[in-house]
Amino acid sequence: MLKYQQEKNSHFNTPLNTVIDELKKLMNKLVTKERKKHILGVANFSIKIAERLGLSPEKRQKLLIVAFAHDLFRDVDVNKLIKMSKAFGISPSFIELKKPILLHSKVAAEFLKIRFKINDEEILEAIKYHTSGHKDMGLLAKIIFVADSLEESREYPGIEELRKLIFEDFTKGFFEILKNKISYVIANNLIMLPDLVELWNETILKGVEKV
Ligand SMILES: [Fe+2]
Ligand SMILES: [Fe+2]
Repeated sequence: MLKYQQEKNSHFNTPLNTVIDELKKLMNKLVTKERKKHILGVANFSIKIAERLGLSPEKRQKLLIVAFAHDLFRDVDVNKLIKMSKAFGISPSFIELKKPILLHSKVAAEFLKIRFKINDEEILEAIKYHTSGHKDMGLLAKIIFVADSLEESREYPGIEELRKLIFEDFTKGFFEILKNKISYVIANNLIMLPDLVELWNETILKGVEKV
């Protein structure tokens, strides 16, 4: 089985299972207990969606990598985060300069590239855009975006309906989660990330049923 997986994933320098194990070890060192619960929740929820959508074992492994990496640097001190992003050659946007914690997504994606030589765009974009979304995001990125909001440790009004909907109709569920996220940003006077606005506009222009 392992041999089969290694052959199948031969375009990755490190076998994906090894990456997942390494990420789990790093998670235990870098994040709070609460965050760990969230990360495990995202891993679990994204795999449930993958099962529902009939995704291949390789796609499921990719989802696990994204889940375990996406918030790996969410609890590190912001000064360290800024230092890491400089070292990785990330140029922060105007908003990221004001809210450096947002850099945790890009830093995690760059870390995967450097540490594990992962250049798989499906994995990298899913990590980069897990907070903001992106108008061109693919299916794995959408699954993580959704799982980040719906995993079992999250609680907010309407979450049960959204959890049900995502398994009944992924496209509709994704749209409702996007809508809910935007409403939350406005209701709580938070920053509306430009990528989120673009994703919304693109979705409306394409037609909600084609998300
Ligand atoms: Fe995050
Ligand atoms: Fe998260």
